[in-house]
Amino acid sequence: MRTPRIRSAERRRLIPGTVPDTPAIARRYDAIPYAAQSNALSHPAHLATVATLFGLAPAPVATCRVLEVGCSDGANLLPMAAVLPRARFVGCDVSPRAIATARAGAAALGLANVALVERDLAELTDEPAEYDYIVAHGIYSWVPAPVRDALLALAARRLARNGVLFVSYNVYPGCHVRQAAWEVLRHHVAAITDPPERVAAARAFAALMAEPGAAQNEADALLRHEFARVAAATDSALAHDDLAVPNDPVYFHEFATHLARHDLAFVAEARLPAVGRAGLSPGMRALVGDMPPLAREQYLDFARLSRFRQSVVCRADAGGGRPLDATRVADMHVAAALPLVRAAAEGKALAAAAESADPNVRALRRVLQWLTGLAPRSVPVAEVADWQRRHAPADAAGARPVTELLAEACLAGSVDLSVQPPAFVPVPSARPVASPLVRWQAARQSTVTNLRHETLRIDDATARALLPLLDGTRSHADLVAAYAATLPPADRAHAQGTVATHLSHFAMHALLAA
Ligand SMILES: C[S@@+](CC[C@H](N)C(=O)[O-])C[C@H]1O[C@@H](n2cnc3c(N)ncnc32)[C@H](O)[C@@H]1O
Repeated sequence: MRTPRIRSAERRRLIPGTVPDTPAIARRYDAIPYAAQSNALSHPAHLATVATLFGLAPAPVATCRVLEVGCSDGANLLPMAAVLPRARFVGCDVSPRAIATARAGAAALGLANVALVERDLAELTDEPAEYDYIVAHGIYSWVPAPVRDALLALAARRLARNGVLFVSYNVYPGCHVRQAAWEVLRHHVAAITDPPERVAAARAFAALMAEPGAAQNEADALLRHEFARVAAATDSALAHDDLAVPNDPVYFHEFATHLARHDLAFVAEARLPAVGRAGLSPGMRALVGDMPPLAREQYLDFARLSRFRQSVVCRADAGGGRPLDATRVADMHVAAALPLVRAAAEGKALAAAAESADPNVRALRRVLQWLTGLAPRSVPVAEVADWQRRHAPADAAGARPVTELLAEACLAGSVDLSVQPPAFVPVPSARPVASPLVRWQAARQSTVTNLRHETLRIDDATARALLPLLDGTRSHADLVAAYAATLPPADRAHAQGTVATHLSHFAMHALLAA
């Protein structure tokens, strides 16, 4: 099936604002720092998992070489470097302020395996010559076209033979809706040059535009939701996404063509539930079912009205475009996904499948129940097969191999698969330990990075105050005493329960190390 040609350059000329050069972009990031966060989908362990599932042979994670372009203040790179001490990391960014913050963080954490370079990615020449993983999160759509080209050229040149590239970017058709709001807001602030003033004026006007009022066409009133979203966005998101020029969404087929021009190939979406056809109408499932892989990706974006992608890419000569190989699941680890654990805690989700006549549904349901009970622990898939033989032999006998069932469950978002599970402890030890990174983060900000490389916001002041104390020297009684000392005498009786609750939440959210 032919995909329509979209004349992007023509469309982009309509957006108010001239495209700045890289130094001007760096000044914008210096004026309003980007609120960077860890992104679990860009972690080498996850990229290796996706690449392995789709038939590639990525480098072992423990000793890999990682480059992050546009690494900002190191919010994504430093936690990776902290958990993979034998791996090597290079972060590059054009913002002097961001790199200075990243260097200060690396020094405070004593990270000897990370180098931070203040440089335009187009001019990156430092060692090592090859990388196993390159991460470009929040770059592709937000830099001028020559830098986008330089990014893919860099990946083509510096990725090892089995190297993996992570790229995130804004996409159509969903971004057409966002773009309508962007154009109005950029017009409104066109005469304002001071970045904080632009943000304030755009936010105020977005709030006005969000107010209910007559629209020429009833359906277009939905655009007001978009203005409401922008009005509630952070300064960072407003400055560097909604108001940013450039901010060029692309159609997936344009991205795939761009990759091919640089001898790169699409592997899969990093968010594995986006790979499957979950949530599609029966008609749409049937339509995309027979399509070649790249055409299907484009039609999945049409069907989902996608706005954003996080794609895994490889060198064309490494062989992208393969289907998911469920046999690769056999050597992985599996854990119940957090949404499933939460649903199970609320008594939802799995009960209805109990009566299913389909042995595959029954077999998977039993395995999911077992995994949910083990959460947040993960287990080797070989252990799942073994458990199945011992505890549900009748279902296992009539069902497809557990590797296939788990691969499907992963695409449905029910389980997480990993070539290298994160090293957290599932229950608090006698003298609980939070990683040096988490203790450092909790002492200075409200977000911390857990051992699954997810960013968690900790608003509770007691929980935040507790984390820096978890250095392995204090028993539960010591922690209770330390917390109780901060309370008025009348409230001290609650200290034990509060500390126990926080410790068990920390364990469930992968914040406790061995
Ligand atoms: C939208 S932020 C993304 C930060 C981080 N990767 C994240 O997603 O959380 C883009 C970052 O790329 C940097 N940047 C922009 N153009 C660049 C270039 N040509 N070379 C290197 N870094 C660049 C900016 O300074 C900024 O820190």
